[in-house]
Amino acid sequence: MNFNSETLRGLRPLAGTGRQLYIETYGCQMNANDSEVVLSILQQEGYRYTEQLAQADVILVNTCSVRDNAEQRVLGRIHEFKPHKQRKPALLIGIIGCMAERLKEELVAREPLVDLVAGPDAYRDLPRLLQEASAGDRAVNVLLSREETYAEIAPVRLDKNGVSGFISIMRGCNNMCAYCVVPYTRGTERSRDPQSILAESQSLFEAGYREVTLLGQNVNSYRWHAAASEVDFPTLLARVAEISPLLRVRFSTSHPKDLNDEVLHTMARYPNLCRAIHLPAQSGSTRMLELMNRKYTREWYLNRIAAIRRILPDCALSTDLITGFCTETPEDHQQTLSLMREVGYEFAFMFKYSERPHTKAARHFADDVPERVKTERLSEIINLQNELSLQSNRRDVGRKFEVLIEGVSKRREDQLFGRTSQNKVVVFDRNDHHAGEYVTVEITDCSSATLMGQVIGS
Ligand code: 5AD
Ligand code: SF4
Repeated sequence: MNFNSETLRGLRPLAGTGRQLYIETYGCQMNANDSEVVLSILQQEGYRYTEQLAQADVILVNTCSVRDNAEQRVLGRIHEFKPHKQRKPALLIGIIGCMAERLKEELVAREPLVDLVAGPDAYRDLPRLLQEASAGDRAVNVLLSREETYAEIAPVRLDKNGVSGFISIMRGCNNMCAYCVVPYTRGTERSRDPQSILAESQSLFEAGYREVTLLGQNVNSYRWHAAASEVDFPTLLARVAEISPLLRVRFSTSHPKDLNDEVLHTMARYPNLCRAIHLPAQSGSTRMLELMNRKYTREWYLNRIAAIRRILPDCALSTDLITGFCTETPEDHQQTLSLMREVGYEFAFMFKYSERPHTKAARHFADDVPERVKTERLSEIINLQNELSLQSNRRDVGRKFEVLIEGVSKRREDQLFGRTSQNKVVVFDRNDHHAGEYVTVEITDCSSATLMGQVIGS
């Protein structure tokens, strides 16, 4: 296994002496973590990471396909690389990740600037693909795998703070939500060997990290079958939590249909399992949920929320919501607003429905909610969420929280920021505190996005 702190030290991003590699990442946290895996693979081959686009010998763009605007942004970005290619004809440009998987050979055929296309399960092949591309061939590998989890590869951490790191515990998705392209771009669901997850968590802790986030499209269906035993998600969570009470553990994303009470009871047993659950509802209307193939109703979802409130009374809740999915009526939209009020989310990611080719919705339903209506509904739910976030933050004023410090505040040099267990950002005076330290902060003020406070103990 490849995860002792020696190797972590050896694999600093700027190590290596060979060709310079620049990586740009779009999309979700899984993608950010995949870029770290890619860097690890290429660093072993002598590539050297650079943050300067102008110095790059190889540019890789790790892409997202979840909405059309994410893809358009990448296509626009590729054209901005043109002057670099003109200046340095040997420069290689590669598109990796979900868009590479979705568009395959079409990407190299359509975009003359693109030399290489690699899907999310083809990263071990990148050294060979880059060689092929150097020889002047267009290199493409978009094979999906049933087994690949990059289990033994120690990601080279690109996060800047050295306090919180992401660990992928599974890949792919079997859920087939009608709107979603992910099962097509990331393939079928597979779980990663728990030993490698524990080794990676342990090595991060030893390297000074104080928080890990376990990542997967649907972490609650994590399951590893070994000869004598089986490890499910609650068991995995408990084992990671036991590494140290000083290591905070988060996870994302949970599918409401798979979030059982056992996970909640496990969280209740370990204070370092953070009190925040991201539980994407997508819609508050049972009719919409059925059309989306989410496999739960509004009532089922609210029952899960009630279980969280009962078992973890101090748990924060966040969600993903889509407005304007096929046939969504004003009543369906009202149901989403009322669900938001009923749950009182701390935070939400909110999107307009974007039709994705080949999905069930694209094949069977008309994208019939006008763009103008989608936009109106989106701004309505955003406004409501801002109110709910503000209300939730106001309830915290006067309370005390344990905060893990992540770094210097973006706005003011003399202030630090960190997070509560509930995943809320807190800003406070720097004094002689530093990143990676736990402090007790009393909340004195807030906006809808941030808590402000005063350190009262460390
Ligand atoms: N259109 C809009 N939003 C989408 N999401 C997934 N697919 C689409 C789509 N086609 C959103 C869902 C998901 C989040 C990651 O992105 O809310 O939870
Ligand atoms: Fe898409 Fe559903 Fe998988 Fe999430 S769980 S990635 S929404 S198919």
